[in-house]
Amino acid sequence: MLAAADHRFTLSNLGRYTDVLRLRGGKVLTVRFVEPRDADVLLAYFRSLSPRSRYNRLLGAASELPPSELDKVLHVGEGNRFAVVADMKIDGIDTVVGEARYSFDVETRDNEFGLSVGDSWQGQGIGAAMLANLECRSAALGAQRLFGETLRNNDQMIGLARKLGYSFAKAPSDWRLARFEKPLHRADEIPCESWKQAAAAGWPLKGALLPIG
Ligand SMILES: CC(C)(COP(=O)(O)OP(=O)(O)OC[C@H]1O[C@@H](n2cnc3c(N)ncnc32)[C@H](O)[C@@H]1OP(=O)(O)O)[C@@H](O)C(=O)NCCC(=O)NCCS
Repeated sequence: MLAAADHRFTLSNLGRYTDVLRLRGGKVLTVRFVEPRDADVLLAYFRSLSPRSRYNRLLGAASELPPSELDKVLHVGEGNRFAVVADMKIDGIDTVVGEARYSFDVETRDNEFGLSVGDSWQGQGIGAAMLANLECRSAALGAQRLFGETLRNNDQMIGLARKLGYSFAKAPSDWRLARFEKPLHRADEIPCESWKQAAAAGWPLKGALLPIG
């Protein structure tokens, strides 16, 4: 029997959940949910990644984002799966410089994510800014733990996770992978729009992390 669709996090007016972040050096990064109009831009973004970055992101060889994956990315909230892109102004034009997806398990309160930053923009603090933003978005859903899995030789991702205080373990399903995870704690300040919207809409889930007020 098919499980009933979970529409708990079906979202409308996705623009409300947009965050504007300032990078070290002053550049502005906008993190927003993927919209249907982003399909071509996202495909182009994945094609433009170096083979190594794409391999690390998709955990295998692929020349582009598979159509089944694109379909999931474009339906933000469905099945408790979410996708964001990070835009930066490059020569005056809004350009996608990174993307991330996360998937929330309502039972375990775990949120699993993967992310990438375009090769030309790596090493500027974008990955760190996006991951900190994902932590806030996760807390807004009611997640108590954020985790990801990466190839064990992916020094960039392992370095990023270490810098943001993640702990490491073997991935249970695949010996090639390392798992990194972080408990999400109560925070004095919840610096993302998702949190405000979640509170207004009756999220987060009962017992979720609350700002100290
Ligand atoms: C992993 C990735 C997202 C990091 O993004 P980024 O924007 O380059 O990372 P940042 O500039 O924010 O770096 C943050 C920290 O990560 C660590 N880091 C970044 N590059 C590193 C490298 N080559 N080696 C070791 N640590 C590294 C450092 O601690 C760095 O902090 P610092 O700049 O103060 O030294 C990016 O390299 C990427 O997209 N790689 C390809 C796809 C991928 O591997 N995704 C992960 C799958 S889950």
